[in-house]
Amino acid sequence: MKKTLLSIAALTLLASGAQARTWEAIKQSGTIKIATEGAFPPFNVQKGKALTGFEVELAEALAKQLGLKVQWVVQPFDGLLIGLQQDRFDFVIASHGITPERAKAVDFANPHYCTGGTIVSMKGGPRTAADLKGKVVAVQVGTTYLSGVQKLPGVKPLVFPKDTDAQTALMAGRAAAWVGDKFTGLDLVKAQKGKLQQGDMLFSERIGMAVKKGNSGLLKELNAALAKALANGTYAKISNKYFGQDIRCK
Ligand code: ARG
Repeated sequence: MKKTLLSIAALTLLASGAQARTWEAIKQSGTIKIATEGAFPPFNVQKGKALTGFEVELAEALAKQLGLKVQWVVQPFDGLLIGLQQDRFDFVIASHGITPERAKAVDFANPHYCTGGTIVSMKGGPRTAADLKGKVVAVQVGTTYLSGVQKLPGVKPLVFPKDTDAQTALMAGRAAAWVGDKFTGLDLVKAQKGKLQQGDMLFSERIGMAVKKGNSGLLKELNAALAKALANGTYAKISNKYFGQDIRCK
C-alpha cells in the first residue's frame, strides 16, 4: 500500500518535468513510439520477437489511421507510466484501468474496452470476496487487482512482477486464488480444462491508453482515431478475433 502511494506521488512530481513530443513533432517524424508490456495475454503478448494481442493490433490500426509507422517499446508493466513521464515513448497501451490516482500522473484517452477484476480458483476454492478472507491471493504488481484485494480485510496478497506468474502460483497451489482480468480469467479457465472456476467480479473498470500529462494534441488524435475505429468496423473485427465478442464500453 505504502509503496503504491509513494510511486504515484513520484509520478505526479515527474509529470511537471520535461516536454513530451507534440502531435506535430510525431507527425513530422512519421513514426509513433508506443509502449506495452508484452506479457498480458490476450491483450499484449510478446512471442519471440513478435508482438501480438488485441491492444497491439488495435494500436497498430490507430497508427495506420493516423498515417504513422509504429516503433514498439516493450518493458515491465510497473515502469510503463514512469517511462511516459521520462519521454521514452509517446503513449502506453497496456490495459491500464482509468483510476483517479493514475489520472493525477498521466492523461487517459477514451476507454478502448470495459472489463473487471475477477477471482479465479481451483474448483471448490474461493469464489466471493468474503471467501477470500484469510487466503493468499496471487496478483500482479502495480495493478488495480492488487489495490482491489488490499481493500479486502484479511486477504494476503502474493505479488508477482508478471500476471502470468501470478497465474502459475495459483496452479502450483501457492495461492488459493488469482485475481485478474475478466477476459484473461475466461481464457485461463478454458485452458485448464475443468480444474479451475471463475468466481465473482470484485470491481469493474474502464481501460484506456495513456499519454504524458498535458499532451492534449496527441490525446485528441488518439481519441479521434479510436472513435473512427469503433465506428468503421476496425475495432469490432479485432475484438472478435481475440474474444469472439465486441468488448467496447457500452
Ligand atoms: N487492468 C489492470 C490495471 O489497470 C491490469 C493491467 C495489467 N496490464 C498489463 N499489461 N500487465 O491495473
